[in-house]
Amino acid sequence: MESAQGIEAVSLANKKIILGVTGGIAAYKAAELCRLLIRAGADVRVVMTAAAQQFVTPLTFQALSGKPVPTSLWEAASGDGMEHIHLSRGADLLLVAPASADFLARLTHGRADDLLSALCLARACPLAVAPAMNREMWAAAPTRRNLEQLRADGVSLLGPATGEQACGETGLGRMLEPADLLAALPALLDAGPLAGKRVVITAGPTYEPIDPVRGLTNLSSGKMGYAVAQAATEAGATVCLVSGPTCLASPAGVTRIDVQSAADMRRAVLAALPADVFIAVAAVADYRVDAAAAQKLKKSAAGLTLQLVATPDILAEVAALPDAPFCVGFAAETGQLAEHAEAKRRKKKLPLLVGNLAQDTLGQDTAELVLFDDRGEHRLPRADKLVQARHLISHLVNLLN
Ligand code: C5P
Repeated sequence: MESAQGIEAVSLANKKIILGVTGGIAAYKAAELCRLLIRAGADVRVVMTAAAQQFVTPLTFQALSGKPVPTSLWEAASGDGMEHIHLSRGADLLLVAPASADFLARLTHGRADDLLSALCLARACPLAVAPAMNREMWAAAPTRRNLEQLRADGVSLLGPATGEQACGETGLGRMLEPADLLAALPALLDAGPLAGKRVVITAGPTYEPIDPVRGLTNLSSGKMGYAVAQAATEAGATVCLVSGPTCLASPAGVTRIDVQSAADMRRAVLAALPADVFIAVAAVADYRVDAAAAQKLKKSAAGLTLQLVATPDILAEVAALPDAPFCVGFAAETGQLAEHAEAKRRKKKLPLLVGNLAQDTLGQDTAELVLFDDRGEHRLPRADKLVQARHLISHLVNLLN
């Protein structure tokens, strides 16, 4: 994730960010986050709580940010003792990473008994938090209540991720990796070439039920669609990802709507419109069972014939809307890629279509793509899907402009 391309893809030039660090073992990752923010061009000021200093020293962040690191309400660094007011003035974002369970609780109640909490209360800029805590603390009823309140108060929540925790347990509560946090920031900061644009993306397979326990689906992993969602977020777009069943974690900063069937996906996409851009990456089933059985079908020696009917073509429908977004389609073919892809692009009236050979792409981490637009073909030699997604988004930005 923390690839060179990832860091280069995000530009936070001239953005003033206050990085608040609270007490949790993930505080050591905040040092890396600070470094990435600076490499992306941001002007970073770090503020630490007393508990954070049990894990990392202010000197670490001072060395990385090149600026003093205030830690207390009572050190009158700015001369008039109003550091909790001055610091946030002119800031574009206050990001608390890691945000401990205790800090979130204090934030929820508007406490102002240390510099960082006072800064959050007195701020005049958006606030984002990256929670980090043990899975039971994350699942605990008070934390749930606090998060609901924070969301209602307009605080952006980044993560947490799931996985191995410092305490040895496994579950939801890990802080998002620094590179993932970085990728989520352009959308919050109105930065990047897609700033202010709303992008709806479909991803993954669909699942069309035969009966309550069986269904029709395909081998799509969702990796390409999720990579496109991440790349669009990095470019500053507000992204709504409508996803069929996958095992993938949502890219940070993306709003995800989970669906099963093509009909569910169509409903979710139409509800997510209007948008500036629609990118249909999903491998939507072309057929569904006419009348799915309400009870599990019994095995019979006589065999079984299923009556299939066509599903709605979501992309064609969206592209034909009077206020249609800029529509991008995907075409997975098993041969004669250019011929089939161009025919599909014309039929669905798409300004841009991404072609790939299904057998070379499905379920893999890499892909070889060909972009088809009014100017012709553009080949993207085999590379990681996230790298390809970033190429696709920059091509799309050029066409939009
Ligand atoms: O016609 P074909 O299924 O090959 O077109 C593929 C493109 O159309 C993809 O972008 C896919 O997401 C979209 N599509 C859709 N709804 C369908 C079938 C395909 O949005 N029912």
